[in-house]
Order: sequence, then structure tokens, then C-alpha cells
Amino acid sequence: MIDLPLLITKVEAIARSAGAFLRQEQKNFSQDRVSLKSLNALVSDVDKNTEKQLVRDLRALLPEAGFLTEEGTTRQATSDEYYWVIDPLDGTTNFVHGLPIYSVSIALMHNDEPILGVVYEVGMDECFSAYKDGGATLNGKKITTSSTSNLSEALLATGFPYYDFTGVDGFQETLAYFYPRTRGIRRIGTAAVDLAYTACGRFEAYFEYGLSPWDVAAGILLVREAGGQVCDYQGGNAPIDSKSIIASNNGVFGDVLKVIQSTMGNG
Ligand code: IPD
Ligand code: CA
Repeated sequence: MIDLPLLITKVEAIARSAGAFLRQEQKNFSQDRVSLKSLNALVSDVDKNTEKQLVRDLRALLPEAGFLTEEGTTRQATSDEYYWVIDPLDGTTNFVHGLPIYSVSIALMHNDEPILGVVYEVGMDECFSAYKDGGATLNGKKITTSSTSNLSEALLATGFPYYDFTGVDGFQETLAYFYPRTRGIRRIGTAAVDLAYTACGRFEAYFEYGLSPWDVAAGILLVREAGGQVCDYQGGNAPIDSKSIIASNNGVFGDVLKVIQSTMGNG
């Protein structure tokens, strides 16, 4: 049996060390280090080298666990009982454009369920972490989702589609509904941090489609352990590969789900 409270302090240190590398690399970054994986999916040597460092450190920590990683550094082993899901640099577009919000996201899965999650937001030096049934913390202090239950007092977050434009009409309908009924909608450019900010009550709710498991695996656990709810656009139990996600506090969850089911629930 894995000692999760002990393991999480080690994973936090590994995430912070990867974040320190990213912070340093951003200072001297140049555009000739960027290449395209597919439409608008940027990658650089920094993403790849950070991932190699993470795989090395996490493998030393738990040799029996496999990996599912954004940059494919190592054999992808999602059939293993335990596996790490890693995004070495969530917010690559922010990073390469010199914006200060980006993160390292690490989850440990057990039988395809996240049991440990760490999101380290580098710019603000904020380490969000959670383990199954252990609650969620930010730099060691307990966090919970917000208690706001009125949409009119809610700040929402989302991600704009940038490669799959099939759902754009429904997405725009959703935004048009929320603009006049909430305090606003943010697009900060890192799904892992959107989830972490929902977990600590800065956002009441976050929704996005077209995501990958490494964007959300750690953040889903953060939100649930902070007392919030997570589902997909159909209201189902959002596994990490579900493509669409709604994460919310309890107060506005029902309202947000109802709107999204009617505007985008078919996609
Ligand atoms: C992206 C970020 C972004 C989200 C994209 C992701 P990346 O991850 O999380 O907020 O809108 O869908 O792909 O490419 O920066 O690791
Ligand atoms: Ca990502």
C-alpha cells in the first residue's frame, strides 16, 4: 500500500524543481526553439526536457508505476495498476509568448482513477496538491471551493477552442448566456490552473472541451478533494479522457450544468 501523505511531499518537491527549471528557461527563451505538433499545438525543447526530468524523478520514487505523458518521453503504460499522468508544461502558449501563468501537472492513477494530484503554478509559486480522501491544499494550507451560489456573483473560466472548431456555435451560445449573468469569464491558458483555481475558490466554475488526460488528471482530484464537483458536458462522471469537463463549486454547479447541457451537451 502506498503511503500517499508521504509520497505527496516528495511529488511536490519534484514539481517545484521542474518549475524552477521552467522559470529559468523562460528568461532566455527564443522563438526558434518552438515547433508545431499540429494546428496551434506548440512544443519546445523546454517541454521535452522538463518531461524527461519528471519521468526520471518519478520513476525513482515509484518504480512499479507506468506513465502517460504529453510529450511521450517514455512507453505509455495506462494498463498498469499505477501510472503517472504528466503535463510538464501546461500553458505552453503562455510560456512561449512570455506570459507568466503556466504550470507543471502530475497525477498518480490507480486503476484509472486519480489518487494523488499536484499542480505547481510557476509564476505565483503556488503548489496545489491533493490525495484521495485527504483534502486539498495550496502551499500546505487547506483549500475548499467557494460557497457562492448565485451565478451573478460567480467568476467563470474556460478555454477557447484552438484546433477543434466543430463545437464553436454551441460554445459561443454558452458564452452569450453567461456574459450578462456572471461577473465575467476568464481564459488564462492552462487547464490545470483553471482547475486549481476552482478548487481554491477563485473561480466558481470552469468548463472546456477538447482536452487531454494530462491537462485535467491532477486538477480533477483537486476540485473533488476541495469539495467541488466534476462532470462532462453530458453530466457523466468525467474520466480523465472524457474530452469535455465542467468543474464547479456546489453552489452554481446545477445552473452551469443545465446551461451547458442545453448548448453543448450533444457534442
Ligand atoms: C493547453 C492548456 C490550455 C487549454 C488547451 C491545452 P498545453 O495545454 O491547458 O489552457 O485550453 O486545451 O491543450 O498545450 O499548454 O499543455
Ligand atoms: Ca496541457
